Amino acid sequence: MSRKKPEELRSHRWYGVQDMRSFGHRSRTKQMGFDAEDYAGKPVIAIINTFSDANPCHHHFKSRVDDVKRGVLQAGGFPLEMPAMSLGEPFMKPTTMIYRNLLSIDVEELLRANPVDGVVLMGGCDKTVPAMLMGAASMNIPAIFMPAGPMLRGHWHGKTLGSGSDVWKYWAEKRAGNIDDKAWGEIEDGIARSFGTCMTMGTASTMASAAEALGMTLPGAAALPAADSGHVRMAAACGRRIVDMVWDDLKPSDIMTTAAFENAVLAVLAIAGSTNSVIHLVAMAGRLDAKLDLDRFDALSRKVPMLGNIRPSGKYLMEDFFYAGGLPGLLKRIEGDLNLNCVTVNGKTLGENIKDAEVYDDDVIRKRDNPVKGEGGLAVLRGNLCPDGAVIKPPAAEPHLLVHRGPACVFNNYDDMSARIDDPNLNVTKDSVLVLRSAGPLGAPGMPEWGQLPIPKKLLQEGVRDMVRISDARMSGTSYGACVLHVAPESALGGPLALVRDGDIISLDVPNRKLTVEISDAEMAKRKAEWKAPKPHYPRGFGMIHLKHVTQANEGCDFDFLRGTAPIPEPEIH
Ligand code: FES
Repeated sequence: MSRKKPEELRSHRWYGVQDMRSFGHRSRTKQMGFDAEDYAGKPVIAIINTFSDANPCHHHFKSRVDDVKRGVLQAGGFPLEMPAMSLGEPFMKPTTMIYRNLLSIDVEELLRANPVDGVVLMGGCDKTVPAMLMGAASMNIPAIFMPAGPMLRGHWHGKTLGSGSDVWKYWAEKRAGNIDDKAWGEIEDGIARSFGTCMTMGTASTMASAAEALGMTLPGAAALPAADSGHVRMAAACGRRIVDMVWDDLKPSDIMTTAAFENAVLAVLAIAGSTNSVIHLVAMAGRLDAKLDLDRFDALSRKVPMLGNIRPSGKYLMEDFFYAGGLPGLLKRIEGDLNLNCVTVNGKTLGENIKDAEVYDDDVIRKRDNPVKGEGGLAVLRGNLCPDGAVIKPPAAEPHLLVHRGPACVFNNYDDMSARIDDPNLNVTKDSVLVLRSAGPLGAPGMPEWGQLPIPKKLLQEGVRDMVRISDARMSGTSYGACVLHVAPESALGGPLALVRDGDIISLDVPNRKLTVEISDAEMAKRKAEWKAPKPHYPRGFGMIHLKHVTQANEGCDFDFLRGTAPIPEPEIH
């Protein structure tokens, strides 16, 4: 690989020429206390930092950025910290998903507009991972992803608590009258013990694992706990490595190939990762010359079993996964299915990175002959209720519900569901299929994580803990249950979900990948003719851009104008 010369650096156009504009760039850099020794002829490394006081998962980024800077300086680069919009899952409404594409634009344009040669992306909380990788992919300058790392295990009365998953679990017990307010308060105290991302295999840990399998993080970074001193060292190592990536001109398009995306999908399937990863990986691939669609996802799901025994589909938490060997250990167990020649950010192939990987706990990372579940963690469904696809996470469902037939109990939107779900007169039994509409990319809007509809209280009290639930929403990666998600086209576009009525018989057949409503085509057409489109939610602003340009779930919910690889000219410097 030939190394770049200093005058070939992108930042040379700002710093290295002799004209009036470059005078301004140099004098303004001196204004910050830097001399030519600090920057001249050195790669300028952006550190895009998604720290925010409104994002507890990134609380350590305020100081962790200094560790990245240390690494950049050690390797002879010039670090520039650049804040970007943070997407803090716990607080943002209506959902961070609506802002994923906005952060991707933020990242892409920050890199384009500034004298940047390479970038360290500091992200972790759910949507920040795909957003930052999408922006970096579109800009296509050397980039390395530094995951925030999972938080420490939660504890309560001698039991471990997992983010999200145990909230849903104990909330159901509280609604069933099995735990009191005091216990609920103790769980609140004990479930989030440190900075870092959710420590179940939620969307954050899933996407960090996908990023590692894609080759966009240093090996072993995905499961490294945020509070571990190893995380500090990993941050500095990212800073050192990105400088060399610039000299080697190792770009996202060299790493995030179709073969690398298939590695990411296989990793997600083997850990029974979040259903959200389907949307995000499809969107990411759409920013590159890489091919990935729902059918390929499903085909791969039949190739690898579920080996990562991590909540919500398994037993353990991310800290256990890290001690058991982390993602390198898991990848070693599926290496026969992986594309081992894919290059990664450290300049080595995936095969080289996992050559000596070991597993230290065979219950946390199972052997192939003793999987948690025999097939991968996600399945794509088709049928007259979801012509463009829907997704379910079979290992997170009670097995008897994977083949099920029952009458629909339909809620028109979230408010309707909230108002009626616990009504003792609701016409629902354990065999009913709960249907929620107006929860898709346009309908909600932003496709919130409403897909794990609550079990009606009267059924909870009878001991029911899972039912078939169908929506055009997403579901938190920490959630579980027989929840069919991402139904496309969505109900706000008049998709079949908009036409289902109470009592219609719905049939789910996961082994055969089918989801159907048992009504005739003629009846469906009659209902469609009577259907009225809802009014758009936003009259102006970013929300209006979202409504005009967001694509459906099967296409990754990217904006139509952001997809593709058409080159955008470098900014003029004058
Ligand atoms: Fe930030 Fe779960 S809330 S990762």
